[in-house]
Formats: sequence, structure tokens, C-alpha cells
Amino acid sequence: MPMTAIILAAGEGTRMKSRHPKVMHKLLDRPLVSWVTRAARNAGADRIIVVVGNGAAEVRAHLASETDVECVEQTERLGTGHATRVAIEAAHVTEGPVVVLNGDLPLIEADTIRAFADSVADGEHACAILTMTPPDPFGYGRVELAADGTVERIVEQKDCTPEQDKNLLECNAGCYAFDGALLAKHIGEVGCDNAQHEYYLPDMVQILREHGHATTITHCDDYVEGLGVNSRVQLAELTELAQQKINRRLMASGVTMLDPKTVWVGPDVTVGRDTELLPMTMLWGKTTIGEGNVIGPNTRLTDVTVGDNNSLEETVGVNVTFDDNITCGPRAYLRGGAHVLSGAHIGTHVELKNTVVGEGSKVPHLSYIGDCQMGAHVNIGGGSITCNYDGVHKSRTTIGDGAFIGSDTMMVAPVNIGAGAITGASSCITKDVPADALAVERSEQFMKEGYASKRLERLRKEA
Ligand code: UD1
Ligand code: CA
Repeated sequence: MPMTAIILAAGEGTRMKSRHPKVMHKLLDRPLVSWVTRAARNAGADRIIVVVGNGAAEVRAHLASETDVECVEQTERLGTGHATRVAIEAAHVTEGPVVVLNGDLPLIEADTIRAFADSVADGEHACAILTMTPPDPFGYGRVELAADGTVERIVEQKDCTPEQDKNLLECNAGCYAFDGALLAKHIGEVGCDNAQHEYYLPDMVQILREHGHATTITHCDDYVEGLGVNSRVQLAELTELAQQKINRRLMASGVTMLDPKTVWVGPDVTVGRDTELLPMTMLWGKTTIGEGNVIGPNTRLTDVTVGDNNSLEETVGVNVTFDDNITCGPRAYLRGGAHVLSGAHIGTHVELKNTVVGEGSKVPHLSYIGDCQMGAHVNIGGGSITCNYDGVHKSRTTIGDGAFIGSDTMMVAPVNIGAGAITGASSCITKDVPADALAVERSEQFMKEGYASKRLERLRKEA
């Protein structure tokens, strides 16, 4: 039967003290809600329904890129039980395993969700609750066990007696699996007679038991998976935990880190063995890095593909590809689909946009090269620029194999420079340069011998 995931993301998150909804706060490279949709997706959920409410427009706009996600709106925030009911009714969920996940539960693993959904799929249990024992249980719903060791009910922190607060250390992680048919049938029975006058989803446990259905708990050995984010301090704590988890996994697979505390890597990034990540490196999005590279220090790569044996120092890259044996930086900025072929060198204070740098070509100093197709073994002299924008249009520059672009050449696009051609330093190239030609565009040098000392003499007399 198809598995449905319902993600509760309508709350304000008062304790964040923010103008943005809580689930839009970022942990590493993505908002909290996207950690949860990712986990649900990787767990094999057939439908992913996100309940939005507070800041709904912002959450919806963000989720628009996740095309498998359906949003439903909870117009009043009446509690997690109410949010779940809204989702079930709006999305017509009537059967199959239904996993409900708090939207502020970023570190939950797909495997946990999968195993969890399976625990109700057999029809034996109407509901399963993921529990954990964090070092500080404050704020979590506490699990009260029945005599037979099954879960009796969940007592929210605000409804706990001091005794319960002290003795019930098993916490509700905010991840539930239900038999969808029973959930749909009974969700309307959740009341709001409690300290917060809210409809609590965890009350479903007791309701299902009263109807004679079996419930179970799954204890999560790694409590980190079950931690929620309610404040910015918790966001920072969970960020650090996520960072540790990802970095340890990478190191275990053969990646070196000089100082793992200063390396941040998103969950979808891959890094090959013998690659070294130096301090202040951030690898985000779908970045893929091969083997034997040195990345950093001070490098941020988002959706970047890196081959093998490259050195990228103080480099910012967004949506670019580096092949192999490339040196880049310090202080390079590459974006917009730039592709650097093997053996090339990109130097300092260089910006590349939507440009192919051919094999073994060099852009060593102070250049902006945009919308350019560059052949192999080209040398771009320091300070050279492609003038690719006239205020309205972007135009292309092509540079043939082995061309030598003199320092401070302005290439006014559209323009083509042939293979093996040379441009004189400080030339403003507005016409195509044929292969093997020299193009110089600058005025002749004017000289007056003995002028400097005479000038000084005159100025001193006048003073
Ligand atoms: C909830 C659980 C608690 C559990 C804890 C785990 C309830 C009543 N309590 O408490 O047992 O230990 O999570 O972290 O469920 N939301 C909505 N609509 C609403 C209210 C909340 O969509 O009307 C969403 C929030 O955006 C959030 C999630 O539900 O993502 C949980 O809400 P939150 O207020 O954080 O619940 P907790 O107090 O943490
Ligand atoms: Ca919470």
C-alpha cells in the first residue's frame, strides 16, 4: 500500500523570535522543512504532504522546487492534531501507512522512517511512536508506559506533574506511524482539554487504545535523530551535530580534514577519498567532489562538480564544473555554468561566468571572463576583460587554441579571436582577430627627453 508522509510545518515557532516561519530557518545548506521532506522522500514515501500556515507563502515558494511535495494550508494553528486532520481531509488520505513528522525534526534518518512505516504496515499495530532519551528532556512530550510495556499515552511537558517531569524520561520525538484508515477514522476525536487548549496529535495513542487497537513505541538509539528545533540555540546545536555526523562519515570514507569544526558539508554532497578539506570550507547543494583534491581554505562550492587532483583555494563556485588537475585561486569566483577543463589554471581575483576554459589554458590574474568559449592553451594576460554586456544584451567571445591575450585587453563582444593570435597589452578589441594575427589597438608612445627635471625646476620657482 502506498505510504504517505505528512509533515507539520504550519507553526510560528515563537521561540525563534523571527519574521520567518520556523521551518524556513536553515540548518547547514537548507531550511529545516527540506531536511524532513528529504528524509521522507529517501524513505520511499509515495506522497509527501506539507501542512503550511504561518508564513505559508514563504514556505510554499521554497517548496515549489520540490515538485513531489503537496502543500495544504492550516489557516488556524490549533495544534498538531488539528494540523494532521487538515492534511488528511484536504489531501484525502484514507489508507496505507501514514507517517507524520514534525517539520522541526531535521536529523531524522530515512531508514528510521522506513522501518517505522513498516511497523504499522503489517496491520498488527494501529500506531507507532518514535521515542528517545535526550540528555535534557525538557519541552518534550513524555511517554507513559502501560503495565505491559506498551505506550499508554503521551503527557506534554506543560501538562506534566512535577513527578511525571522527573520520572518520565522517554520522550516523544515527533515522528509517528499510523494505520491510515484508523487515523482518518479517529483523528476527529482528538480534544483540546489540556494546558495549551490545543489539539495534540500524541493523544491519538490513547484514543486508538480505547478503541482496542495495539500501539507500540520504537526507541531511537541515537537521540540526535529525534531532536527538535524550537530556538536558535537549538538550531545551532543541531547544526553542530549534523556537521559532526556528516564530517565523521566523510572522514571514515577517506576524506582528510585539518579541522573538522570549520568544515561544513550539506547532506547531498559526495567527496572522494584522499581529498583534503581545509578550514572554512562549505560544500552545499549537489556538489560532487572526486579524489585527491585540496579544497580550501575559505572555499564555498554550491552545486559544483569537481574531478580529481585539483587545488581550489579561496574559491567561490556556484553551478560550475572543474575537470582534473586544475589550480584555482586564491580569490576566484566562478558561476553560471562555467566549465574549467583539465590542466587549466585560474588565478587570483578572477571571475568566470558561463565560460569554458580549455585544456591547459590560464587566466592567472585580475580578469572577468563571461560568456566566452576559450580553446586549449590560451593565456589571458592580467587585467583582461570580456565586455559582454551592453546594458541590454549579453554577447559572446570566442578565443581560439593557443591565443595569447596581452595584459589589459578589453574584448568587446561579440568578438572572435583566432587560434594562435596575439593581442597587444592594453588593446580594446572590437573587431574579429584572424588566426595567427597580431592585433594592437593603442596610441603611439609620446616622449620628451629631459622633461622631468625641467618641470620640477619650474614648479619650485613658482612656489
Ligand atoms: C511536539 C509534541 C511533543 C514532542 C515534540 C517533539 C505535540 C502536542 N507535542 O511538541 O510531544 O515531544 O513535538 O519535538 O504534538 N504545527 C503545526 N500546526 C499547529 C501546531 C504545530 O503545523 O497548529 C507544527 C509546527 O510547525 C512544528 C510541529 O508541528 O513543526 C511541532 O509543533 P511544536 O509546537 O514545535 O511542538 P512541540 O511543543 O515541540
Ligand atoms: Ca518542536
